[in-house]
Amino acid sequence: MRVSRARSVSAGHYPSVVSFPATRLRRLRRTDTLRALVRETTLSLDDVVMPLFACPGEGVARQVEGLPGIARRSVDEVVREARELTSLGVRAVLVFGIPETKDADGTGAWDADGIVQRTLRALRSETPGLTLLTDVCLCEYTEHGHCGTLEGDTVANDETLDLLVRTAASHAEAGADAVCPSDMMDGRVGAIREALPETPIVSYAAKYASAFYGPFREVAESTPAFGDRRGYQMDPANAREALRECALDLEEGADVLMVKPALPYLDVIRSVRERFDCPVWAYQVSGEYAMVRAAADAGHLEERRAALEALTAIRRAGAGTIVTYWAKDLAQWL
Ligand code: PBG
Repeated sequence: MRVSRARSVSAGHYPSVVSFPATRLRRLRRTDTLRALVRETTLSLDDVVMPLFACPGEGVARQVEGLPGIARRSVDEVVREARELTSLGVRAVLVFGIPETKDADGTGAWDADGIVQRTLRALRSETPGLTLLTDVCLCEYTEHGHCGTLEGDTVANDETLDLLVRTAASHAEAGADAVCPSDMMDGRVGAIREALPETPIVSYAAKYASAFYGPFREVAESTPAFGDRRGYQMDPANAREALRECALDLEEGADVLMVKPALPYLDVIRSVRERFDCPVWAYQVSGEYAMVRAAADAGHLEERRAALEALTAIRRAGAGTIVTYWAKDLAQWL
């Protein structure tokens, strides 16, 4: 009776000797150390990147309701936060900018004296050990909030490429260690690669048109004035298409492929990890963080345990590095 059940459970891959009572999987779950010794997935500060939001002014550190614990900071305050992150052991940040003024083309994005460029120069000299990544996109800089220049009501793909190239080049010039295009225009990686042969490109290769970006748009003031981003970001229903996006980005010269959001797209992370032999990252986005924070603040779950479980799951699915709003907390938890 027992033997036949074991056979059907193991589908012929294991000898029947693995069945109970010879096998008792609880044996290795008895102590902390035993569990650690057989743990398949680990999480360390080398695996995380902390997003930072730079805004104009001085002495500004404005909390945003939808994203508790995360603030919009003036350059001096970003530097102060970056120093703290460095001393805690966080090794990389992803810089976003909220400019003073916006216009139709998002010219603030590639201004040599723009908010991200000034932040990069300050961090370069004040926190030299910190690795600086930048989000390359126009949505924070355009008055309409879309990720490129408009032609009527749609974002003009090819006209936007040149603006993205200028933005990426100005970031590299100001000291970025890597640029991360997140706009989802076709051909952006190739265009940036041609202009910047030496700069690592972390491509938001499979970026979905997601409701989970809500709190970010509140912080970054980048909510589209009309319509949505479904004309350029991916349909959440598609996984095979993500692999095509990744293949194209690699061919165009991307160094790292990123999947975003993370937890609702673990299957995509896993497929990309299995298909391509390059670093695969995931972006655990604002809504993923905000959901847990809200539930924790209401007393329904324990933030630390939920966060570590989600981060571990994203690593287990195949992400090497995770961009996460918990990076600073993680430095204190680990
Ligand atoms: C810029 C960009 C967005 C995010 C990262 N880069 C917003 C968007 O596409 O609307 C989202 C990050 C987050 O939600 O944490 N395009």
